[in-house]
Amino acid sequence: MKYEKTLKYDTDLINQKIMGPNPLKLEEELMKDNRIKTGSIVMDLGSGQGITSIFLAKEYGFKVYATDLWSDAEENKKFFTEMGLTDEQVIPVKADATDLKYEKEFFDAVVSTDSYNYFGRDENYLDEKLLPFIKKGGYIYIVVPGMKKDCHNNIPKELLLSWTPEQLDYIQTKEYWKNIISKSKKSEIVSIYEMESNEECWNDWIKCDNEYSINDRKAIEAGACKYLNFIAIVLKKK
Ligand SMILES: C[S@@+](CC[C@H](N)C(=O)[O-])C[C@H]1O[C@@H](n2cnc3c(N)ncnc32)[C@H](O)[C@@H]1O
Repeated sequence: MKYEKTLKYDTDLINQKIMGPNPLKLEEELMKDNRIKTGSIVMDLGSGQGITSIFLAKEYGFKVYATDLWSDAEENKKFFTEMGLTDEQVIPVKADATDLKYEKEFFDAVVSTDSYNYFGRDENYLDEKLLPFIKKGGYIYIVVPGMKKDCHNNIPKELLLSWTPEQLDYIQTKEYWKNIISKSKKSEIVSIYEMESNEECWNDWIKCDNEYSINDRKAIEAGACKYLNFIAIVLKKK
């Protein structure tokens, strides 16, 4: 896949701000059949240090609420200003995805990149915790790191070089996600599929120099990508 939008962004800048496999490339592939209209109010759920929020505002023309638990909203605000974005374009919000305080039906759509696997594995999450904040007919675009085949009962040694069995519980198959998501009564599945992006996004990540990427290098360099994938999930609120 050619990542024409991502190529506009400086690699050093991306490397300073990413928290996992290249989120701009993942988001660009996820959004290639984008149905969310320009000007929509969009929640970037699990926005981390804000690089994906900037991408959504600049490349797709959304008004973005950069919603994240671990990052510092003030730092994110500084970054948005440095990148030339106004308060009308991106709003940083520190919030727990399982306890959102927005007005009901405030958002036209949600986009979530490399985060949903932390809080979305509860089958009640969508109907109870997220969909109430989205307008009827609104879309949810999600990309999560996944596993090609379930191997939790016999974890390959390459994966164990970087991650514990407990950490690997966050990485599941397409079938697992389909099962969880299909429990939702308030949304319909538009598509769930394995994405093309894989090695290239992991390789961009392990070139970064922080303790997390250094830890992940061991598995990726040993060939762990053959067990891994990224899964796109597109939903529509009924
Ligand atoms: C691997 S990082 C990805 C960040 C960003 N999307 C990116 O790709 O650069 C995962 C993010 O999920 C967020 N997260 C995890 N649990 C969360 C929760 N309960 N509510 C909100 N955000 C959460 C963390 O704050 C973290 O920034």
